[in-house]
This record gives sequence, C-alpha cells and structure tokens, in this order.
Amino acid sequence: MHVELRNISKTFGRVRANEDISLSFSAGRIYAILGENGAGKSTLMKIMSGYQSPDSGTILIDGQPVTFKSPTDAIAHGIGMLYQDPLDFPPFTVLENFIAGRPGGFFPDTAAARQTLISLAERFGFHLDPDRYVDMLTIGERQQLEILRLLSLNVRVLILDEPTTGISAEQKSALFNVLKSLARDEGMTIILVSHKLEDVLELCDEAYVLRRGRYVGHKTIPCPIGDLVELMFGKIVARQERPPATFGEPVMIIDDVCLSSHRLSVHNVSLTIRAGEVIGLAGLDGSGQAEFIRSCAGLLTPERGTIRLNHLDLTRASYHRVAEAGVAFLPAGRLEEGLIRGMTLMEHFALTQPGKAPWVNWMRAWQTTAERIQTFNVKGRPNSPIQTLSGGNQQRFALALLPENLKVLLLEHPTRGLDVESALYIWEQLLQRRASGTAIVFISAELDEIVAYSDRILVFFGGHVTLVDDPADMNTTRLGELIGGKLAR
Ligand SMILES: Nc1ncnc2c1ncn2[C@@H]1O[C@H](COP(=O)(O)OP(=O)(O)OP(=O)(O)O)[C@@H](O)[C@H]1O
Ligand SMILES: [Mg+2]
Repeated sequence: MHVELRNISKTFGRVRANEDISLSFSAGRIYAILGENGAGKSTLMKIMSGYQSPDSGTILIDGQPVTFKSPTDAIAHGIGMLYQDPLDFPPFTVLENFIAGRPGGFFPDTAAARQTLISLAERFGFHLDPDRYVDMLTIGERQQLEILRLLSLNVRVLILDEPTTGISAEQKSALFNVLKSLARDEGMTIILVSHKLEDVLELCDEAYVLRRGRYVGHKTIPCPIGDLVELMFGKIVARQERPPATFGEPVMIIDDVCLSSHRLSVHNVSLTIRAGEVIGLAGLDGSGQAEFIRSCAGLLTPERGTIRLNHLDLTRASYHRVAEAGVAFLPAGRLEEGLIRGMTLMEHFALTQPGKAPWVNWMRAWQTTAERIQTFNVKGRPNSPIQTLSGGNQQRFALALLPENLKVLLLEHPTRGLDVESALYIWEQLLQRRASGTAIVFISAELDEIVAYSDRILVFFGGHVTLVDDPADMNTTRLGELIGGKLAR
C-alpha cells in the first residue's frame, strides 16, 4: 500500500500547524518524522490517521484520493496510529480494551478475542494479562496493548507517535524487532515520530523533517546524526557542562522504607538527600521507582520506615501537607495526573498558586501566565486549552507551573518527549534551582540523562535498591547492566 500526503495544510486559530506539506510513504519501509517541539508532527499524523481533518490538501492511497471522517474510518482504509498520549479507556480490562472500537460481531466471542490477544502478545514478546485493568498498566504496557489492537484490525500503515518514551530498553528492542519484521516480512509501512535520533538511526530507512509547520527536508538513513540535527534546528546544539555540586544540609531523610503496591514491593530503602543534590532514579519501567517517588510526594504510604523533611515526619502526611512543606511532584502522565484536559493555561496557573485571597485575580493570573509562557518558551497563549499544546509544550508548561524555592523537587521523566534543545533548556532551569539549594530527585528512562545529571544514582531492580555513590566512573553501558540486574544483588 502506498500513501501520499499532498499539499496538506492545517491552522488552529493563528497557529499554522501544517503548511502545504507533501510526503510519500512506500510499502515495506520505515520512516521517521522529525522536528522540534511544536513543529507539526503530531498534527500531520493525526490528519493521516483520521483523527483530525486538514483545512486543505489530499490523502491518496495507491493513487486514489480518500477522506477520513474518523480514526475508525482510517483504520478501515488500513491506517492506524498510536497516539502520543494514549487514548485508551482506563476503567476496562486489557481484553475489554482490546475488543473496544471493533465493528460489532467481528469476534464471535470473547474467548476468540482472548486467544487472538494472547497469541499476538506472544509473537511480540509482550507480557499482557488479559484480565488486568488498564489503569494498572505502565505507559509502556498501554502502548503495547494499543499496538496489538491496531494489528488485530489489519492495518497496513502503522504510525507511532513517540512510542519509545517511557518504555524499558527491553520493551524497546522487542518493539523495534517487531516493527522491522512487519516492514521487511509483511510489507507494512511504519512511521515513527521521535525525538530520539539514535532510535531513528537504528530503526528507520528514511527521515522527513518538519520545521515550524513546513516540510524542510528528507534524509536517507544511514546518515550522520549531525545532518538530522541541522535539518531540525538549522544549527548544531552543544551539550552543556554540568556545574560542580555544592551540597548543603540534609533535607529529606528516608529511613528503611518498604513499599508495596498492586504491582510490586520495594524493600529497605535508606537515603539522605542533601540540599542542592540531584538524585537520579534508574530502573526498568515498573521496577519501583514510580512508587518510591510517589511515597516521597505523599501519594503512597510506606508499609514500613520513615520519610522526614528536616525535622518534620512526613511518612503518613497527605500530598497537600507534603506540598506545603516545600516538596513538589511532577508526574509523567501529563494529561492524567498533572494537567487537566479542557482547562486553559491561565486556569491551571490560577489553580496551582497558593492563594491568600479566596478569589482569583484573573488580571494578575493572565499577566503572570503570559510571563511564564515567555520565560519557559511555551508555544501557546494564556487562554489556550492545555490539550491544544504539542506534547513538548505541555511538558514545558507543567515545569513552568512548579512553585519557586522548593526544598525538594520530584520529577518523573522531566524531559520525556522534548526535542534536544528543549531538554537542554529544561535542565538549565533545573540546575539553576539546584544551585539555589533545591534537591532534585528524578526518574528517567534515558540512561545518558541519568549519568549526565545525577550526583548520586539509585538503581531499582527486582524490588531492591542499590546506591551508586560516585557516578563519575559510571557510564550508560554499566548503568544498563545494573538496571538489568546483572551486577545487582
Ligand atoms: N487542537 C489544537 N488546537 C490549537 N492548537 C493546536 C492544536 N493541536 C496542535 N496545535 C498547535 O499546533 C502546533 C503543532 O503542534 P503538534 O502537536 O503537531 O507539534 P509536534 O511537532 O507534535 O510537537 P511535540 O514534539 O512537542 O509533540 C503547536 O503550536 C500546537 O500548539
Ligand atoms: Mg507531538
């Protein structure tokens, strides 16, 4: 199946998200769509998959013009997309979700659906329990489920919008192997939207690059990584040096904490976090880092042990008490835990500010929101609903909302979905906070990010935690072994 986009344009108010874009996709090949945050990648892919309609332009399948009224329509034509923010139905089980959206009577019974799900999952090396509830899955598992659902609907073109953010290295290599085999052996077209250029070089045959809504170039892979970066940004970005650390007094003291949730238990974590220190939490998706950081944030009560902030015992304190004490938490699921779909940037801002007055001063809120938008280089306006921002801009805005002068800042995947320049920018901001004495604890799936920014690293594996005191002699290969359990206890 050959798909062509011809002269696609789409504007949102004054934003020209896509301007006269023409691209062509052949069967059996793997394409990358690259571009900085807000470049228009997701918009173009949503148009191609029937989730949005273009203002003008045509989609052609094997030379025939088609119009999609909905994603279901696009799927019926063989084009399926895995969205940047997973669009599944959390209150259902994996199996129910797998069946959802399917034309009635497609599966004679749930037993057949279950069998299909199990055998597809097996083929992919995905471990999905059909009877688990979707809201208990990790982001990586949710993505796996959605991929299986699309494949079971016989799509011929599979679009993945940043699929490797938030999944483990193991899940990623399983995914890449499958995508390669779908293209090579079954002649499917794979389109990958990604900021991870290493992934693109590993997986893709060609790359299309967008900048500010326009198509700016094409590269055949392999090619030097610098060529891609230059097409994306028009210049080469330099990696910044990390300023030397000066640690202050202990701020958060975690003593022999044991945690358990529906998924796992974590044993005996002890750690004293000092002011101005960056602690990186490394581990495969679902190894307990998420639970640990939530217990520091007051969202999960430890089974045993204590968590103290200076002399305040916060072990059983509520999220609000912990926040009052000077701890902030930025979760990974932007539109699930952090930001609220339907609310504007200004409303978010007004809601999160510690108000002395019982009313909101909207004039002030507007002004301050506009200032933050500028400082954090967010592409949006105070009255933009949050879901209309591109993924990377949502993340920047979430960071812009964090209060000043924190004692401890807890971050889950702070640069997930950000382009290279934005990620550097975010770390500049974080290191400024660190220089003023804020301790930073962050989870990341990017081993080089952990190695580059951590003063100490906590490695999670199989419910146990190992502290790496001096990351100076740590590199991504060694860290990769540690999180895979190779050298751990
Ligand atoms: N529904 C919408 N309403 C208003 N503006 C929108 C909407 N969707 C996207 N935009 C705007 O269009 C532009 C392109 O957004 P898009 O999501 O396509 O970018 P992207 O390349 O996917 O970026 P990222 O890498 O950050 O995900 C952005 O400025 C965004 O704010
Ligand atoms: Mg996007």
